[in-house]
Amino acid sequence: MQLFHTLRELRAFLDSRAHQRVGFVPTMGNLHAGHCQLVTLAKNHADLVVVSIFVNPLQFGANEDFGSYPRTLQADCEKLEAVGADVVFAPAVEEMYPDFDGHDLHQQMVIQPPPLADDLCGASRPGHFAGVATVVAKLFNMVKPQVAVFGKKDYQQLMVIRALVRQLNFDIQIVAGETVREPSGLAMSSRNGYLSAVEKNQAAQLQQQLLRIKQALLDGRRDYAGLCEQAGVELKQQGWQVDYVDIRRQQALTLPDAQTTDWVILVAAKLGKTRLIDNCEVSVS
Ligand code: PAF
Repeated sequence: MQLFHTLRELRAFLDSRAHQRVGFVPTMGNLHAGHCQLVTLAKNHADLVVVSIFVNPLQFGANEDFGSYPRTLQADCEKLEAVGADVVFAPAVEEMYPDFDGHDLHQQMVIQPPPLADDLCGASRPGHFAGVATVVAKLFNMVKPQVAVFGKKDYQQLMVIRALVRQLNFDIQIVAGETVREPSGLAMSSRNGYLSAVEKNQAAQLQQQLLRIKQALLDGRRDYAGLCEQAGVELKQQGWQVDYVDIRRQQALTLPDAQTTDWVILVAAKLGKTRLIDNCEVSVS
């Protein structure tokens, strides 16, 4: 497995493999089994798999955890080697953002995502999806993959990326990986490392609420607001600070009506200082 920190090295290597189909998995590192599964999925679609590791300052708000986000390059490389990644691209901030002066990212050209990025996580994290769309577009230009793999755990992000590829005409197939969970049901996330042992046990409550709403939809309930409100109240009683519990149409993330047959239930909530997200797709025929 090759590790590159500069675009020049990455390009030289990829130019020497120009005949190969490139699969790409963008990450911010601190990898877990969910990321490893994305790499395995990429290997099924490509001859050569590139994984980027870059904690992207542009997608963090001023009061978020950019500074403390775990940077674990060596352990990440060991995991990626074991799962058969071919290339790790781990650029410095200056490599990714050439005109960055070390302080002010506002000099950067930024991609403005469509309105589907404005609510849910976009409402509580203004600018987050512009930061994601911008760095992913830059990485697509650097790696030039034929296929790129994203996890469904970040469902809204996945939909923003699909819109990015569609609207900016990237010739890249987007493949979605299923969420990988702890035995308790907790969705794997790099931020789970912030949870205390007690909080980690409790964190499975998020998925329990999703499954409760899923069952209600399968039972024919269509009082979406009521279902979400009940889940929010229960989570609050259990000690969560709830950002949102919402039921949307899959893909477009628009509001469902009584005729909708494909939903995604989305939740974001804080346990202590840790903000977690999760979701669950439901369909009836
Ligand atoms: O999902 C992530 O880890 C990040 O948002 C991504 C896609 C790597 C962009 O920084």
